[in-house]
Amino acid sequence: MGSQMYDWPEPVVSVQSLADGGISVIPERYIKPPEDRPATTGALSIPEQCIPVVDLAKLSAGSSECPATILSVANACREWGLFQVVNHGVEAELMTAVMATWREFFKLPLEEKRKLANSPTTYEGYGSLLGVEKGASLDWGDYFFLYILPSSHKNHDKWPNYPPSCREITEEYGRQMVALCGNVMKVLSKGLGLEVGFLQEKFGGDEIGACLRVNYYPKCPQPDLTLGLSAHSDPGGLTVLLADDRVPGLQVRKGASWITVHPVTGAFVINIGDQIQVLSNAVYKSVEHRVLASETKERMSVAFFYNPRADLLLEPARELVTKERPQRYDAMTFTQYRLHIRNKGPSGKTQLESLQIT
Ligand code: OGA
Ligand code: NI
Repeated sequence: MGSQMYDWPEPVVSVQSLADGGISVIPERYIKPPEDRPATTGALSIPEQCIPVVDLAKLSAGSSECPATILSVANACREWGLFQVVNHGVEAELMTAVMATWREFFKLPLEEKRKLANSPTTYEGYGSLLGVEKGASLDWGDYFFLYILPSSHKNHDKWPNYPPSCREITEEYGRQMVALCGNVMKVLSKGLGLEVGFLQEKFGGDEIGACLRVNYYPKCPQPDLTLGLSAHSDPGGLTVLLADDRVPGLQVRKGASWITVHPVTGAFVINIGDQIQVLSNAVYKSVEHRVLASETKERMSVAFFYNPRADLLLEPARELVTKERPQRYDAMTFTQYRLHIRNKGPSGKTQLESLQIT
């Protein structure tokens, strides 16, 4: 830790250790202002089926030319910024294994997990904070963050060595996620009326970035006052979320309402990140989302992030800039872009909005 440029501004409290301590009242730092609490922003009763479920069977079989798939993905990304996928080609056993191995990791005693404690320099490792502002509001969750690509960023020493199979399972999971995202990128490109390889090329071809964030949300004695994860959009390209289908928690914003996502068994929830909103000149929208805390059930999720090569300048595709639809954003690298959430923590879609050319 000593050689790091900077560290967290205050001691990090593991939420899991707070929850295990058997408190009945949450510390003030976790209490959200009334307008951000779950209950006050009443969930609209839109049936869950409204969140599109896309069958990727044709795509998994090697074809990115299926018009029906392209249309449903494109519509979902224009309207929602997220969709679920079934028949996605990722093995069910691997999905079970990755959840199981990380569940075991979070069961380790705190001292063991703390050996892999992260710092804001790279965020790799076990942590609870997102953002480095002292005194900031805190979320009811812990996480483990690691890099998968580029391989020069991947550091197995920062990955858990317990359970023994954790590294191997996570490696294989990463490989299958990269393949799935590569396929989804083709569909997204076609859905914009562009060449099949367009978005992938803009992301740096084979030199994309990929990372994983395993979220652990312990039980919370006062879930109405806090959030497992505050509202944000994901800064990168695509996010593939594997979530426990028995414990809801993820909500997405649709206009003024928050809608709970109920994952279909065996499905992934895929959402668009800010970089694809930028590249598509806001034809596709990144989705604002948050996670509720629960009084009765702990929850775990595995979020895989597929990102552009960090040092490339990304700007709206020329093909999507017209007189009627002028260029919405200036060019920026993902390294620059990501600093915002890493410094300020989750803050809705304020960053993208602040960058909009008016
Ligand atoms: C994230 C995220 C959602 C969830 O990690 O960025 O939004 O359900 N996770 O845990
Ligand atoms: Ni997110």
